[in-house]
Amino acid sequence: MKRIALFASGSGSNAEQIATYFADNADVTISLIVSNNHKAGVIDRARRLHIPVLLFDRKTFYETDQITEILLNQPIDLIVLAGFMWLMPSKLVQAFPDKIINIHPALLPKFGGKGMYGHFVHEAVVAANETESGITIHYVNERYDEGQIIFQASCPVLPTDTPEDVAKKVQALEHVHYPRVVAEVLAKLDS
Ligand code: GAR
Repeated sequence: MKRIALFASGSGSNAEQIATYFADNADVTISLIVSNNHKAGVIDRARRLHIPVLLFDRKTFYETDQITEILLNQPIDLIVLAGFMWLMPSKLVQAFPDKIINIHPALLPKFGGKGMYGHFVHEAVVAANETESGITIHYVNERYDEGQIIFQASCPVLPTDTPEDVAKKVQALEHVHYPRVVAEVLAKLDS
């Protein structure tokens, strides 16, 4: 049995896609949804999906080892960031080497780094007159959006597209590819 912890700060549509993808898989379980935001939409989704939620504040996350210890004790095999907006603390990254992955809503290394998340990314893509955007799934290290890239997929950006238009195209790519790539990364843990 492989155990996943999903980290999410917002709506949680990617977290739900991943949970649904593995719902009938007896070899994989979503053990926990972990969030820094008690108002996040992902909390309602977790309740509906009957997945336990672990909520924490900034002090607990950055100044204690509580979260790392809970994840190690489960034990969690893979941490999947699905719209999680805080930098992972060094201790947590070191406790799960090559076992934390993230999805970013653009084609890294473009439009990554601190402050580049969610809607801000799509606004920057449109402001820069990009002709394409997309998604990047990558391993997580101690810096924002810099870990090794696992998978990218792109979509066109039209001159008339608003950031909302780009967000919709990117989200469609995320929902198609993220669950599948999570499954591939899990399979590699065995080899
Ligand atoms: C997704 O587009 C994800 O790529 C992005 O947040 C959104 C979460 O949507 N992540 C980042 O920007 C991380 N830097 P969701 O809550 O509906 O899954």
